Amino acid sequence: MASMTQRVFSAMQPTSDSLQLGNYLGALLQWVELQDGREAIYSVVDLHSLTLAPDPAVLTRRTRVTAAQFLAAGVDPERSVLFVQSHVHEHAELAWILSTFTGMGEAGRMTQFKDKSAQVGESGTNVGLFTYPVLMAADILLYDTNLVPVGEDQRQHLELSRDLAQRLNARLGEGTVVVPEPYITKDTGKIYDLQEPTKKMSKSFSSPRGIIEILEDPKVVAKNIKSAATDSDAVIAFDPENKAGVSNLLTIYSALTGRAIPDIVAEYEGKMYGHLKGDLAELVVEALTPVRERTLDWVESPDRLDAVLAEGAAKASAIAKVTLGRIYDSVGLLPKRG
Ligand code: TRP
Repeated sequence: MASMTQRVFSAMQPTSDSLQLGNYLGALLQWVELQDGREAIYSVVDLHSLTLAPDPAVLTRRTRVTAAQFLAAGVDPERSVLFVQSHVHEHAELAWILSTFTGMGEAGRMTQFKDKSAQVGESGTNVGLFTYPVLMAADILLYDTNLVPVGEDQRQHLELSRDLAQRLNARLGEGTVVVPEPYITKDTGKIYDLQEPTKKMSKSFSSPRGIIEILEDPKVVAKNIKSAATDSDAVIAFDPENKAGVSNLLTIYSALTGRAIPDIVAEYEGKMYGHLKGDLAELVVEALTPVRERTLDWVESPDRLDAVLAEGAAKASAIAKVTLGRIYDSVGLLPKRG
């Protein structure tokens, strides 16, 4: 069961027409790195996004464009597995089993559920939103995952996955499932809104000028960076508390170049904000342009994209089937003969 190479699993929901810079720097680049020397499995989790009642045609489009961005960023289907969650039916099946191991109170303590259900009110809250973290645990446990790269906001969900794994092993026998470890993505994931730099850059809360979408027209990207909100004391320094705007620009600069922030600050000593913004705009456009172009290539050949996803689903299914079979046996479901 446990293979020698570490297995990595992560996923994103198809909830937007373009990922934003934070997803790219904080998640995708690390996914790409983690492919080295490990077995990586990445998924577009369309079943999760059904909890938000998406328009059906929009969901279909966003599922393809999300997968295309993974590929464009460097997820390599030759080395890794890339698939759409609903193509592997074991996810929904294991989620059911795991739901019978999850306490109501335990699920009710998930802060993301509390936040989201408070936002939409009781009448807008579906049961899927409540069981969302159980489906996420199924995603992870199905692949005997060792390492799960996720942002800080998913830490509690991952804790639940670990608790469920340990509970299954305690009740059904050690070795029934692998207990996953979180791999919390570094601070580079913390990119703030360009206009309101105390808030996270986010598809749902940022204004069009506060956000950098990776598929956005490069001219708009450059303009947004050049018009980022900064303070009036005109000193380039890293001080997130008092100089959130400039500090955010420095964080992005550092993430894109791999250079340490003090180094960048030293280079810009005595220079104006406009200088930093101009250079950063160029850096961002340079980094995102090839990703954008490759994404558009994939989107323009949906047959080729669908073929990659079909191959990924076949590889994922082969693993998922074995794990689910083992769990079905452990809980005592009568094996189907013939
Ligand atoms: N809940 C995750 C998010 O919103 C997405 C996700 C679903 C996920 N299943 C997963 C992430 C399994 C890691 C592993 O970011």
